[in-house]
Amino acid sequence: MTELKGKTAIVTGASRGIGKALASTAASLGINVAIAARQEGPLKETAAEIEKKYKVKVLAVPCDVTKLEDLENLVNKTKEKFGSIDILINNAGVSSQYPFEKQPIEDFEKLAHTNYLGYVRLIRLVINDMIERKSGTIINMVSGSTLCDPLPRSFIVYSSLKMGLRAFSKALFWEMRDRGIKVTSLLPGVTDTDLTGKLEEITADSSRLMTTEAIENAVKFALTVPANVCPLEIAVINQQTPWTKPVIPYKQEHPEK
Ligand SMILES: NC(=O)c1ccc[n+]([C@@H]2O[C@H](COP(=O)([O-])OP(=O)(O)OC[C@H]3O[C@@H](n4cnc5c(N)ncnc54)[C@H](OP(=O)(O)O)[C@@H]3O)[C@@H](O)[C@H]2O)c1
Repeated sequence: MTELKGKTAIVTGASRGIGKALASTAASLGINVAIAARQEGPLKETAAEIEKKYKVKVLAVPCDVTKLEDLENLVNKTKEKFGSIDILINNAGVSSQYPFEKQPIEDFEKLAHTNYLGYVRLIRLVINDMIERKSGTIINMVSGSTLCDPLPRSFIVYSSLKMGLRAFSKALFWEMRDRGIKVTSLLPGVTDTDLTGKLEEITADSSRLMTTEAIENAVKFALTVPANVCPLEIAVINQQTPWTKPVIPYKQEHPEK
């Protein structure tokens, strides 16, 4: 196992939900973390919480991942404080659930810029230092919905962008494999966060949602495997939500019926 104590990780979308859980997981392994999200208040509260609990250094950088200058600032601030970036956990994301013909057109851009372009750009900004050091770990938050064929109704823009991200991440894994850089995709099922709180008909029964625990374990696994091993993809599927089955049930109801 690679020594993780004193390493540095960036975690995006870390003020709440899965990102906060994963920043805490990294901190629990002795990793210093730079956490990013748009709203400064919750971000600073999370930073103070993690710092107090795990006794690591935490840097809170307000950042909108859809803006290139914010991503550059995140990378620069992290390097100024910690020297180098060893681990990138790309997690920030938004959802938008509508029958396609009713989905607001502006949501397409928001989804593409947050859930796809934000990831690719940030990787591009950190990867050259990793290549130079022949060492680095990149973990991308994809989605269990990418295992569905066809993609879940009312999520087709969200899920097809996540499929693009999954394809990119897989290709990057192979491209970086000989350069000492590990690339892992996480494919979680439906998890209890603010994001799923907005998906009313799927989360009507909140007891069917999973907590972040299994995803935290998946990240711990990815970070602690032997140095010459890398999990390419880790899918953690919720057993109790029908639409994360690999094949959508034939009788799936349209949300508006
Ligand atoms: N929950 C699930 O069931 C589930 C399943 C599969 C995959 N995922 C993926 O997991 C990731 C995290 O989701 P979650 O459920 O934890 O969502 P969440 O609870 O809504 O948290 C989203 C986080 O991302 C931040 N964020 C949103 N837009 C951002 C932007 N433009 N720039 C920077 N930060 C931004 C939010 O903070 P601010 O609003 O302050 O920016 C927040 O910290 C997403 O990529 C999502 O697609 C979730």
